[in-house]
Amino acid sequence: MGSRVDDIAVELLDLLRNSPERYFVVQKLANKLSTHGRFINEALRGLAVWGYKFDFDDKMRVKFVSAPDSIFPHEIHHYLKTKFIGRNIISHFSVPSTNSLAFSLADEGAAEGTLVIAEKQTSGRGRLGRSWHSPQKTGLWFSLILRPDLPPAGLPGLSIVTATALAETIISRLKLQAKIKWPNDCLIDGLKVAGILTELSAELDKAKYVIVGTGINVNQTLRNFPPHLKHKATSLRLETGTEVNRIEFLADFLLNFEKMYLQFKKDGLKPLLPKIKKRSSLLGRQVRLKQGKKTIIAKAIGIGIDGALIVKRRKETLRVTAGEVTVV
Ligand code: BTN
Repeated sequence: MGSRVDDIAVELLDLLRNSPERYFVVQKLANKLSTHGRFINEALRGLAVWGYKFDFDDKMRVKFVSAPDSIFPHEIHHYLKTKFIGRNIISHFSVPSTNSLAFSLADEGAAEGTLVIAEKQTSGRGRLGRSWHSPQKTGLWFSLILRPDLPPAGLPGLSIVTATALAETIISRLKLQAKIKWPNDCLIDGLKVAGILTELSAELDKAKYVIVGTGINVNQTLRNFPPHLKHKATSLRLETGTEVNRIEFLADFLLNFEKMYLQFKKDGLKPLLPKIKKRSSLLGRQVRLKQGKKTIIAKAIGIGIDGALIVKRRKETLRVTAGEVTVV
């Protein structure tokens, strides 16, 4: 979008949408938006091409019916209640990886809170050098550009904050028992529903910026998962049994995330630890920790104020800051 008709389309959409039950006379809409009736019709046709649905009555008055399931910035803004997270949106149909694109944009000075989102990723990246399956329009694949005043050691904390905000959104919005698996996964009934890849660009001992990449399986059916993921992954749709509105879910998550992130920036992880521990799937359980070639079995007993996982092996207490953890 970008031309005069596009500007009219956006204003028109807001007008129609704010009174979803009401039929509007086209000429009255034109007067309200200080334009001509033919531009209103042109804008309506344009919006229909984008997937918006309208109804016309026998007097050719128009009413808003539905919006498309698309990650248009305008669509996201419609539901967004945040102050700065997601206020600047870079939305693409297809990119190799939103994290990689977010890196370039952050280098060019993109503002804190910028949301980089795509309908599909062709080389989505996961943790530990893995790839992330990101098929078209089924999930939410996005990255946030953040500029916290944080030493690189604070990074695991940010992943946990994101995972917790995500679990809280799933629980409050969909009433599903979501859990976080330290440091960056979100699980439902032991199956992975979302993953977080936090990367940073650092200068000496300070993060220049941090990219928090999040992949959420939203509307996949079993068919949409490749064989190697069928028994490990799930989607919100598979768990609820109904299609989930991606845009409303995203807006809710961004608000939850903003609240937690602001608190994290102000006071660190400490005040958030009770919430994090409540949602953790590992605490109190025997876990297998893989760090490079080394594997140890220990009991997960806590999460430190720096985001490290605290485990106990015989009499020894260890702080784990990286690696892969699975419940034994
Ligand atoms: C993991 O569990 O291994 C982390 C997965 C992170 C995937 C997201 S999708 C959006 C963003 N862009 C990427 O390339 N990766 C992250």
